[in-house]
Amino acid sequence: MGSAESRILQGGGTTLYSNETLFDAIGGESAVRELVEKFYPKVQANPLLSPLFPEDIQPVMDKQFLFLTQFFGGPPLYSEKYGHPMMRGRHLPFPVTPKRAAAWLSCMSQALAETNISEPLQEAVIERLSGPAHHFINSEDES
Ligand code: HEM
Repeated sequence: MGSAESRILQGGGTTLYSNETLFDAIGGESAVRELVEKFYPKVQANPLLSPLFPEDIQPVMDKQFLFLTQFFGGPPLYSEKYGHPMMRGRHLPFPVTPKRAAAWLSCMSQALAETNISEPLQEAVIERLSGPAHHFINSEDES
């Protein structure tokens, strides 16, 4: 699943072996849960992103936990519950601009930095997410 398996990362005492998923390497379910819980408060505090999200962020966090688990190579929890992710399509109702994609990735980097995930793996996570983040862009920046 994805590029993690074809790459070996080393650093900070942590290695992503060629047959290991990013999901396992970062610490499995509890790590994904922690990341999601650190990420959304940053999204809610970001002036470009917060207007797009509902006040009750818990359902979004729950879906993101299911999705990232699957996306990083863990069990396909999102698809089991919601079917094919079609993630670009699910973002079409929202104006995802280049600046918002950068802000989203920046919130994710900050959340990662607050975890115990090693820096090389933090970089691998951002690398894995930056493709989709840019792919979801569907609107121009306003200014
Ligand atoms: C590029 C910047 C992004 C913006 C501005 C953005 C914004 C949003 C918004 C507004 C929602 C809907 C919240 C609601 O339910 O009301 C959403 C849902 C979601 N986003 Fe993003 N998103 C971005 C990137 C990403 C990326 C890179 C991923 C993962 C690769 C992702 C995964 C999800 C998931 C899993 C959901 C829930 C989908 C569902 O309803 O089942 N998003 N996002």
